[in-house]
Amino acid sequence: MPTKRLSVVVTRRLPAPVEARLTELFDARLAEADGAMPREALADAMREADILVTCLSDKIDAALLAGSGDRLKLIANYGAGVDHIDVATARQRGVLVSNTPGALTEDTADMTLALILAVIRRMPEGMARMQADEWEGWAPEALLGGRLSGKVLGILGMGRIGQAVARRARAFGMRIHYHNRRRLHEGLEEPLEATFHDSLDRMLTMSDVVSVNCPHTPSTFHLLGARRLKLLRPESIVVNTSRGEVIDENALTRMLRAGELAGAGLDVYEHGRDVNPRLRALPNVVLLPHMGSATREARLEMGERMLVNMQTFADGHRPPDLVVP
Ligand code: DGY
Repeated sequence: MPTKRLSVVVTRRLPAPVEARLTELFDARLAEADGAMPREALADAMREADILVTCLSDKIDAALLAGSGDRLKLIANYGAGVDHIDVATARQRGVLVSNTPGALTEDTADMTLALILAVIRRMPEGMARMQADEWEGWAPEALLGGRLSGKVLGILGMGRIGQAVARRARAFGMRIHYHNRRRLHEGLEEPLEATFHDSLDRMLTMSDVVSVNCPHTPSTFHLLGARRLKLLRPESIVVNTSRGEVIDENALTRMLRAGELAGAGLDVYEHGRDVNPRLRALPNVVLLPHMGSATREARLEMGERMLVNMQTFADGHRPPDLVVP
């Protein structure tokens, strides 16, 4: 079908080149202002559009899908994670869902390493000292952190991003252990010299640094809860650039406050912007506002990938990044 005949509603502002391509190719209604689309407007959009372009700020649940009529055929998500979309219900209603994996892999992996380094080398504490003009000069024991080289990085979720994190960590001399639903095939595991753990508990007991890189699904919710976090040593640190819900944020906060963990680097939170104030107040954490994919390059590539899915669908084929429930 000529793409121009397809009506597209975009729920929020996207980078200008992506919006330009959307209007060039489709009968596209762009968002007027930035910010998440209110639920009522989302409900209207889902009745009017053949293709809905969403972001992680749009909660597309069963109730919204039930009221969407039968025009909507594709939800083209601008982003990799789809835990904000009820993909199973969408599928039952004949609505396909696509995402943009790959486009943000390298950048999210960079951010993971940045968090690991910032926490283990206590960079925010150093910076705070400089900003407060409290630096008294070099001292043999001031702000001592840990050495990455030789440490065990336990990666929870060895998909694209987990593997990209592993490649970087290898360059820093870390030893890679991982837990994943499936073991990587030899060709991927060997160059990383990665050790697979069927048991997440076992991996945690061995890890100096834990990196969460698995998606949020019903089976990964609170995968790192109080019991498992206690398997880590007090010198260990935890970083999360995936989804906040994978970690029990209250349990993590309690352990950090009690000195049962050395630090944490978080880019995502269990309750979105509603971050535990006790967590915010800790000196041994680095907290970022979901910036893992925030590079100009990634955000353009996400748009390109999304458009490929939309055009392929318009041509009557299965979008290459179809999400299967
Ligand atoms: C995604 O695409 O799911 C990322 O979390 C956005 O940064």
